[in-house]
Amino acid sequence: MPGKKILVTGGTGYIGSHTVVELINAGYEPVIVDNLSNSSPQIIDQIMKITGKKPDFFNFDLCDEKLTRQFLDANPDIEGIIHFAAFKSVGESEKEPLKYYKNNIYSLVNLLLASSERRMNMVFSSSCTVYGEPDSLPVNELAPVKKAESTYGNTKQIAEEILSETARVNENLKVIALRYFNPVGAHSSALIGELPIGVPQNLVPFITQAAIGKRGNIIVFGDDYDTNDGTCIRDYIHVVDLAKAHVAAIKQLEGEPVPFDIYNIGTGRGNSVLEVIHAFEKATGEKLNYTIGPRRPGDIIQIYGDVTKAERDLSWKAELGLLEMMSSAWEWEKYIKQNPL
Ligand code: NAD
Ligand code: WQD
Repeated sequence: MPGKKILVTGGTGYIGSHTVVELINAGYEPVIVDNLSNSSPQIIDQIMKITGKKPDFFNFDLCDEKLTRQFLDANPDIEGIIHFAAFKSVGESEKEPLKYYKNNIYSLVNLLLASSERRMNMVFSSSCTVYGEPDSLPVNELAPVKKAESTYGNTKQIAEEILSETARVNENLKVIALRYFNPVGAHSSALIGELPIGVPQNLVPFITQAAIGKRGNIIVFGDDYDTNDGTCIRDYIHVVDLAKAHVAAIKQLEGEPVPFDIYNIGTGRGNSVLEVIHAFEKATGEKLNYTIGPRRPGDIIQIYGDVTKAERDLSWKAELGLLEMMSSAWEWEKYIKQNPL
């Protein structure tokens, strides 16, 4: 008997593909919609190699109102949506704000309009970026949402407000927003991971590309912050743990959920940039060369999450540590060097 059908938008992307694997492992039937604007169709074959199942995949832009409605009308048995599809580059969003407002907001509004007449559970990809520089740590879900430092962060704040207000008036819609901290690493098979499109903006892909020789020395963006070793602190979470949190959220929505709820998804621990670099060296045996450079504008000094709400309500807890995050990221980097996707 096939499992419950779940629409995974952005399902050939980094976090979406790992979540499709965990949905299949949990007995669900994920269906992917992705316009391949930041991913490869070969990821579908990789998911097949991992799970033995090839998810249905539809290639279209969720900003297309007609195609989105036609798809949902043709799939009345879709019981839930996990909405990953968005653009995620902070830097690019500053240069092209309208591109981000259109894609990240309009795709969500289209999904909500096309599913508004039916019972729908939605898990939404939000981000700890909505907290800005927290006033106290660890930051919990009641902390104030601060004025976004970037257009990208603002699209996440706006999306949360759209979902909260829509779920309040539409009893058909139940929503959980997951505020991710810093997803890193790759599946243990090394068959899926974060696709390196362009120069990495994030720390861990830059580390693995530097280690494999695709980049020069790592530049540590500032070591004069008020932290133990002077570098910024983040809550890094293994992408597989993050993927499993989405399955837990979908299960929570199958019960008697409130209209809208928010959960921090992190480890509850903070690690500095230098601690991540040293963890990579310890996990892989690779020596990393780095230099200390100037601070990166917009960087917050430190953030890590209070994740007790997700542990309590979703019965979910991150299990993988920094060494596993680093070793899996390295195995993936070596895999795609030999097998470009
Ligand atoms: P990703 O770019 O790897 O995946 C996003 C996928 O969505 C891509 O496959 C892309 O082709 C697709 N997509 C984008 N716009 C689309 C559209 N209009 N129609 C159809 N498909 C579309 O990114 P990711 O790292 O997997 O992030 C997934 C979600 O999680 C995003 O919403 C992102 O903002 C959020 N998030 C990511 C991080 C992170 O550090 N990676 C942290 C917090 C939140
Ligand atoms: C982590 C730390 C850098 C690269 C971003 C987005 C956020 C979310 C996750 C989407 C920082 C330092 C980095 C380098 C460095 N994405 N660094 N040298 O900035 O916490 O979050 O990705 O939702 O919205 O803002 O992650 O990996 O870019 O940086 O020293 O070459 O590593 O200064 O302290 P960040 P990051």
